[in-house]
Amino acid sequence: DWTTDNVIDEQVAAIREQVGTKRAICGLSGGVDSAVAAALVQKAIGSQLTCVYVDHGLMRKGETEQVEKDFVAATGANLKVVDASERFLNALAGVSDPETKRKIIGREFIRVFEQAQLEILQEDGPEVAFLVQGTLYPDVVESGGGTGTANIKSHHNVGGLPDDIEFELIEPLRKLFKDEVRMVGAELGLPDEIVQRQPFPGPGLGIRIVGEVTKDRLDLLREADAIAREELTAAGLDREIWQCPVVLLADVRSVGVQGDGRTYGHPIVLRPVSSEDAMTADWTRMPYEVLAKISTRITNEVADVNRVVLDVTSKPPGTIEWE
Ligand code: XMP
Repeated sequence: DWTTDNVIDEQVAAIREQVGTKRAICGLSGGVDSAVAAALVQKAIGSQLTCVYVDHGLMRKGETEQVEKDFVAATGANLKVVDASERFLNALAGVSDPETKRKIIGREFIRVFEQAQLEILQEDGPEVAFLVQGTLYPDVVESGGGTGTANIKSHHNVGGLPDDIEFELIEPLRKLFKDEVRMVGAELGLPDEIVQRQPFPGPGLGIRIVGEVTKDRLDLLREADAIAREELTAAGLDREIWQCPVVLLADVRSVGVQGDGRTYGHPIVLRPVSSEDAMTADWTRMPYEVLAKISTRITNEVADVNRVVLDVTSKPPGTIEWE
């Protein structure tokens, strides 16, 4: 019979058997899957696991702290946090094209992650032979069901380590669907803020700023996003809404009047969508009162924003994200 207890017991035994006395590493993205996979492996092998979290500076308010504090508190895992925000900002300077931004963020992410892995490999201790991945059943089906090893290529020449390091994969969620992963995560003691998280793109707020990504713009968007999330949660809409990207139109300005003067500020776009699988989506018909509250708060509390607009486009033709 399928119960979360059975799944956990089965996986813990299998992981212990697989890893033996060696060590494993796991990348945390801030998302549900990697967090649950890591918690499961942590339960199985404890301090033989090291988790790596790359902070690219494109996270939403409180997200990095959530990994640093809540995840560690719930699991007791060894966590290596790499603050790479400067590096990402430098790499993104002057870039407005969406695909170029995505490529830069993806490339820098792999470099920073590999560097962190190499540092762990150099620490004293048993061989680091395993890489944990939060692959779910739908991912397995989509990719044809193969298992294998990850071939991590190093772009750096660090301390005479070989250029290619082979890891064996641990994929404890391979037989599970998303809702089952959430149940397992809850059973493992992960907080709701992690287990019930809505989807958030890997490139983060970098693809929610239409225009160049700068520190000031990120800070502004983080504030607006935090307000929208707070009000959506307060209104009890977190389940009904699949996700609600909050987008800064950094290259657009419009005239406003605030306090006793004319302003020339940026618009913030709210993009609440309802969906089953993100392949198609409809814009969520959410209560006007909640929209009003979000709009009032954002224009009052976020400097340089004087207008809030609602995206009423389905997918297709619009994608969920703006970039
Ligand atoms: P779109 O914008 O294509 O998004 O309608 C569909 C879903 O995918 C998420 N998304 C991403 N997730 N890395 C991710 O992990 C990405 O690069 C990425 N781009 C989009 C998006 O938030 C939505 O849930």
